[in-house]
Amino acid sequence: MLECVVVNIDMWDIRQEEMLCLTKCCGETLEEQDRIFRFVGLQDRKRSLMGKLLIRYVISTKFSLSPMEVTIKRDSKGKPLWACDSVQFDFNVSHHGKYVILASTDQGSVGCDVFPLRYGQDDESPVEFLELMNPCLSSTESCALKDVVGDDEVFWKLFGFIWSAKEAFLKMTGEGLIADLCVLDSFFSRLIFSGD
Ligand SMILES: CC(C)(COP(=O)(O)OP(=O)(O)OC[C@H]1O[C@@H](n2cnc3c(N)ncnc32)[C@H](O)[C@@H]1OP(=O)(O)O)[C@@H](O)C(=O)NCCC(=O)NCCS
Repeated sequence: MLECVVVNIDMWDIRQEEMLCLTKCCGETLEEQDRIFRFVGLQDRKRSLMGKLLIRYVISTKFSLSPMEVTIKRDSKGKPLWACDSVQFDFNVSHHGKYVILASTDQGSVGCDVFPLRYGQDDESPVEFLELMNPCLSSTESCALKDVVGDDEVFWKLFGFIWSAKEAFLKMTGEGLIADLCVLDSFFSRLIFSGD
């Protein structure tokens, strides 16, 4: 089953010292602590810490463990995984703006992405944007976007869907955005996964 937890961190009032204390108490490794505090802004640090807390919360609740008993490792590509060989469980975290999400599944692998809707955010023209992004799009995605270039709202919504689907897929495999994005077709992958 695929499950998703979404947290809005806007109301989370936490100071730097409390963050450090919480991070250590949870049993995060020095490397993971460093990842949080490498972020410069408080919001970034809060998002990253919340992601790690969510991982511990979801696993400990689901498998009746203490949050401190949950050991998280990273695979060779950097994807965080639960260091437990006896249980099939995958999760993925994404954070942006005020949102932190964690998707999880007990069947196969999962990736997720929070993507801001650009509509009404800036004056960027869809035509120029499409030219810039074209090398990262499959021909199907490029054609679908060209078809709606006259309707800004539909264009940015469709772009948001395409981009977050690509990123979520590449976070599922752990490759991240270093992969060749134009060979990945979000419509095709959606068809495959909706059929499963
Ligand atoms: C991983 C990546 C896709 C994250 O994208 P993003 O839009 O910046 O961030 P998101 O909010 O969606 O996700 C961040 C979370 O994804 C998870 N994550 C990190 N690396 C990941 C990976 N390779 N695969 C899947 N999930 C990953 C972590 O939980 C991370 O949270 P944290 O930074 O607080 O620890 C992006 O940084 C990337 O493409 N990196 C390149 C991959 C890379 O460097 N690989 C190393 C090759 S050896």
